[in-house]
Amino acid sequence: MIKKNIILEKKNCSNKEIIKFINKFHRGFKVLSPKEKKQEISKIFYELKNKKFSKTNDKNRQNIWNKSWSRPAKFKNFFVPTYAQKINFFRICGKLIYTESQFLEQRISQYLLKYIFKKYVNKKLNICEFGAGSGKNIIFLKKQKLVKNLYASDWVDSAVRLIKKNGKLNNLQIKSFKFNIKEPNHDIDFVKNNIVMTHHALEQVYNKYKKFINLLIKKKPQIVVHVEPIVENYDKNNDLDKSAIKFHKQRNYLNGLKTYLNNLSDNKKIKILKDKRFYFGTKYHEGYSLIIWRTVN
Ligand SMILES: C[S@@+](CC[C@H](N)C(=O)[O-])C[C@H]1O[C@@H](n2cnc3c(N)ncnc32)[C@H](O)[C@@H]1O
Repeated sequence: MIKKNIILEKKNCSNKEIIKFINKFHRGFKVLSPKEKKQEISKIFYELKNKKFSKTNDKNRQNIWNKSWSRPAKFKNFFVPTYAQKINFFRICGKLIYTESQFLEQRISQYLLKYIFKKYVNKKLNICEFGAGSGKNIIFLKKQKLVKNLYASDWVDSAVRLIKKNGKLNNLQIKSFKFNIKEPNHDIDFVKNNIVMTHHALEQVYNKYKKFINLLIKKKPQIVVHVEPIVENYDKNNDLDKSAIKFHKQRNYLNGLKTYLNNLSDNKKIKILKDKRFYFGTKYHEGYSLIIWRTVN
């Protein structure tokens, strides 16, 4: 069990702390000065004003994901999305950093996943990830010996195939299957007493997660872990956060999950075990808020 908190749990921290933290992953980067940060935020608002991130319909979104998982990039021994390769700006503890490093997000995301599972999940069980993309998260957790058997699903065929391929590449058996979070089929009895995870997947479904959450409540996993952008966690009085709220809304990302889970908790249907913001994300938003819950017997 890890006792120390990591800097990603802090709303603000010094450049020195950020430099020490990022140096663990990569050495060439720069923390933007307050003036440079302000300029970057203005650019984001300009892009938002021009509706650069406008929502798209379901059919389009499905085509985009199908294509994306048909041509993945490779990071270490995993296939990962190509869009993850060349991200230059990151938000971290209220600051912006610039880097030319490839895959910095993957490195920090793995570090965070390991931290979350060691500190907040702390149970070695089977895991099923929904909206799993390439399956890289559960493969990583298995390699870290933090989970047992692997199940993964996605709503597009190319991802279901890629999960299998990624499993083979890592000599792992993964049961992968097609599953639409918005219209869940009910054949997921194997989640009982195990771990369910969504990682940047509910992000994609706007407010169409209720049937899925209600199905989970019936199927009684032991613990449910969401690592998602939670719009309720941003501070409306902070410019960097304001840009993320606007981005989130323009993209039609996850709407109201935290409020929905809090209501279920008030009605004694579930118990929320952890609700936490990690101050880390890309230029436009933070995808790493954590909510962990379990059903109530
Ligand atoms: C940003 S990716 C994240 C993939 C993976 N969880 C990760 O962290 O690398 C979002 C994933 O959600 C999937 N997705 C989008 N809408 C979905 C839906 N309605 N049901 C299931 N998966 C969906 C996409 O196909 C894609 O694989």
